[in-house]
Amino acid sequence: MRRLLIAGNWKMNMKLDSAKALASGLKEAAAGITEVDIAVCPPSVYIAPVAEALAGSNIACGAQNAYFEKAGAFTGEVEMAMLTDLGCKYVILGHSERRHIMGESSELVNLKVHAALKAGLIPIVCVGELLKEREAGVTDLVNRRQFDGSFSGVSAEDMKKCVIAYEPVWAIGTGKVATPDQAQEVHANLRALIAERYGKEVADVVRIQYGGSVKAENAKDLLGQSDIDGALVGGASLKVDAFMGIINAVK
Ligand code: PGA
Repeated sequence: MRRLLIAGNWKMNMKLDSAKALASGLKEAAAGITEVDIAVCPPSVYIAPVAEALAGSNIACGAQNAYFEKAGAFTGEVEMAMLTDLGCKYVILGHSERRHIMGESSELVNLKVHAALKAGLIPIVCVGELLKEREAGVTDLVNRRQFDGSFSGVSAEDMKKCVIAYEPVWAIGTGKVATPDQAQEVHANLRALIAERYGKEVADVVRIQYGGSVKAENAKDLLGQSDIDGALVGGASLKVDAFMGIINAVK
């Protein structure tokens, strides 16, 4: 059985006070929930105070990105080991905003995946097609390419630790959510691809989250699909009630 992972991606939101308040509010509201794994991914500069506010809770901390190199002359970047140093468990890699706004390639994501695994972090690797790619009927091709590029050279043992987030770009922050059937179809194809590359035993344990306008009202139907193992939540992770609404709907 794969445990659901509900992760909040705070993106470039919050200030110190609101970040700490959100973390404390979630700590209190999620106390005693053991049925699902919960994580929040604040902006890097707020990881330390958020981790402190979450100490002793059932909510893990993650980062939204990091660099693949070891400490050195890389102005403006953050090393994977710095994240573990702050108590992070997860790191989101290859989010569509990084792929499409910052121009990150799957080759770069791949270097980061290897560095994250080496540092003991669980990578949450995002894949997903643009609207025009879905309309052109190349959804699976795009996701396969991003998967193969991002996980190149990753061993079966390491693959088991990774989390994939399927995030159709047209559903992110748009309020346009994929239907449970649309999402399930892509998730099943991704799982079949993992089986093709790594065998069924690995495919059966890898968690594949859905992301893109997830909220309390649609979470149950989406996460009720057999191959959807959690959610990566943007907008609805910024308020205690909205994020808890998702967790409570699926736990
Ligand atoms: P959203 O973002 O929930 O605001 O659509 C999801 C994401 O980008 O991870």
